[in-house]
Amino acid sequence: MKTLVTGVAGFIGSHLAERLLADGHEVVGVDNFLDNYPRRFKEQNLAGFSNHGKFTFVGADLLGLDLKNLLRDVSHVFHLAGQPGVRSSWGAEFARYTENNIMATQLLLEAAKSSKLEKFVYASTSSVYGDTDDLPMREEGGTRPVSPYGATKLAAEHLCYLYWRAFAVPTVALRFFTVYGPRQRPDMFFHIFMRALRRNEKVPLFDDGEQTRDFTFCTDIVDGLVAAALYPGRGEVFNLGGGSQVSVLHAIAIAEDIAGRKAKLQRSERQKGDVRHTRARLDLARSKLGYSPKVDLRQGLSEEWNWLCGLGDES
Ligand code: NAD
Ligand code: UGA
Repeated sequence: MKTLVTGVAGFIGSHLAERLLADGHEVVGVDNFLDNYPRRFKEQNLAGFSNHGKFTFVGADLLGLDLKNLLRDVSHVFHLAGQPGVRSSWGAEFARYTENNIMATQLLLEAAKSSKLEKFVYASTSSVYGDTDDLPMREEGGTRPVSPYGATKLAAEHLCYLYWRAFAVPTVALRFFTVYGPRQRPDMFFHIFMRALRRNEKVPLFDDGEQTRDFTFCTDIVDGLVAAALYPGRGEVFNLGGGSQVSVLHAIAIAEDIAGRKAKLQRSERQKGDVRHTRARLDLARSKLGYSPKVDLRQGLSEEWNWLCGLGDES
């Protein structure tokens, strides 16, 4: 494959690029070092492969690039660039979410119309479902996001479908469920929690801690991304989850056990934009993509803890 990975300096994009290069594929990676978190994390994410002979880095904003030219020899696009985070997507920030999640996707899809792509894989999210008691979340079930972020990601997912319908752009959308592991974004819970644990600082715990997530380890997500690139179908949507549903308090207990220390939890109210529960139905991903999550929460959290300890004061 000759691949384009957008958002390559991000948490998931950097894991994907590493895997593609290890498998012998060429990778053109785009990233504009969006300031949603400090640039040094993104530079560290790139460090392990930036000098690889089959890697080319384009440090630019998708909104200003000649995208037709960028796609000229590319066979597979992995579109991971975007502005993530549910709780921060209200208010004035929404304009930037709109640009980085909807506009950037539409421009890339426009450019893809005249390319000879074999597959365009879009990083969607469990946040498109919103709050529901109808668990597990099914791809054909209802979508009613409860965060502005989720609304922008759903809009872009719809764009992927309609560029396939209208122009045969070979899109597949993957709905990731709360991804964790080494390089996790510093605004996500396990990173915040483990950083505070190391420093003996207080950790904000939103809601009552009984909210649940289908936490998914980063390499399982990468397996799903690669499988989707090779999958012959188009215009489809798949959940990628970790295969379990765990409360935040239970995950905290496992992480405390791994770290051998107790956290100082500072309870606070449920945040606007947060869903109460997530759990992915994986039947479609299992049967069509051969997806099968392999890393359980204890193993995954211990890998994230080791990574975070290795960062030292940089975390
Ligand atoms: P991340 O912020 O670490 O990575 C996204 C990268 O995209 C960043 O490095 C950023 O600089 C880049 N980017 C943003 N806008 C850009 C633009 N206009 N042009 C060029 N580059 C741009 O986030 P992540 O956690 O790795 O998430 C990757 C993708 O997966 C996102 O699209 C996100 O919505 C989706 N997703 C993530 C999770 C999760 O739990 N991490 C869950 C569901 C979906
Ligand atoms: C995550 C990602 O941040 C989104 O980009 C992604 O789209 C989404 O998963 C998804 O699966 O769709 P979230 O589930 O909120 O969103 O992930 P975390 O930030 O790790 O939060 C997990 C839980 O911890 C939430 O219940 C949150 O309220 C809680 N939390 C978070 C705290 O209690 N304290 C904090 O300081 C941060």
